Amino acid sequence: MSTVDVVTGEVIWLTGASTGIGRSLAIQLASQGNTIIASARGQQALNELAAEHSNIIPLAFDVSRQDLIEEVQQQLSQHSGYLDRVILNAGTCEYLDIDTPDWDMMQRVMTVNYFGTINALAAAMPLLQASPKPHIVGVVSLATVVPFSRAEAYGSSKAALQYFFDSLRVDLVKKHIDVTVINPGFVKTPLTDKNDFSMPFLMSSEEAAQRMAKAIGKRPRQFDFPGRLKWLLKALGFIPALWNKVIAPSLRV
Ligand SMILES: NC(=O)c1ccc[n+]([C@@H]2O[C@H](COP(=O)([O-])OP(=O)(O)OC[C@H]3O[C@@H](n4cnc5c(N)ncnc54)[C@H](OP(=O)(O)O)[C@@H]3O)[C@@H](O)[C@H]2O)c1
Repeated sequence: MSTVDVVTGEVIWLTGASTGIGRSLAIQLASQGNTIIASARGQQALNELAAEHSNIIPLAFDVSRQDLIEEVQQQLSQHSGYLDRVILNAGTCEYLDIDTPDWDMMQRVMTVNYFGTINALAAAMPLLQASPKPHIVGVVSLATVVPFSRAEAYGSSKAALQYFFDSLRVDLVKKHIDVTVINPGFVKTPLTDKNDFSMPFLMSSEEAAQRMAKAIGKRPRQFDFPGRLKWLLKALGFIPALWNKVIAPSLRV
């Protein structure tokens, strides 16, 4: 990788930084010499992270709270007059049980994953515009490539985000703000620890964070990883009957 692409010396706001991918990414980017403003709901986990890394600043924020956008924007600006990047990573996953459906769950997941991402972006936007080379990074999912069992809520929230970022990218060209969508495959985190199905090519959050940190520096339109899973899912997507009737149901243990 060219040294020009290494993300360093920047001020980055990262949501969902208390566990899993976000925590590992906060540590990875902090170790590269960036200042990370780390957000999640869990204040204690953020404080512990900041205690271990002098360039990580904890900032508790529940992304589902639209009423807190102005407040968090002010808090961000107390730490820095600008943001070079925002990494919109906070997310949740709940599955639909079609035999006893909890339809409210669809709204819960959408509120965090879709509207929560937009709330955080709204808070970040003015500070991003104060940076010479702003970059918006959205963490979506390879789950949008094919429909997974019970993922009605999770998958549709991520598919909505994919479209949102693709459309946003078009509108931000004139403002010279780059937009990258990152689509991870299966990463071992508290979110996937709850999964009761096989997860091909599962990787550690540290490995995912290293790959993401490298990719972010290049500012691609989209970064899907691991490539093996992406191409496998894309190929299976061409045979919907096989996917829907045989493979997707068989992924459940
Ligand atoms: N793991 C995978 O295989 C995988 C694959 C594709 C995409 N992703 C995506 O990657 C992102 C991170 O997932 P992960 O696997 O690392 O899960 P995780 O370990 O459960 O982390 C989720 C993070 O989001 C935060 N969060 C949840 N609800 C929030 C809210 N309302 N407001 C603010 N922060 C909130 C959590 O902290 P608090 O609970 O303290 O708020 C935590 O820091 C998610 O967007 C997920 O959809 C994960």
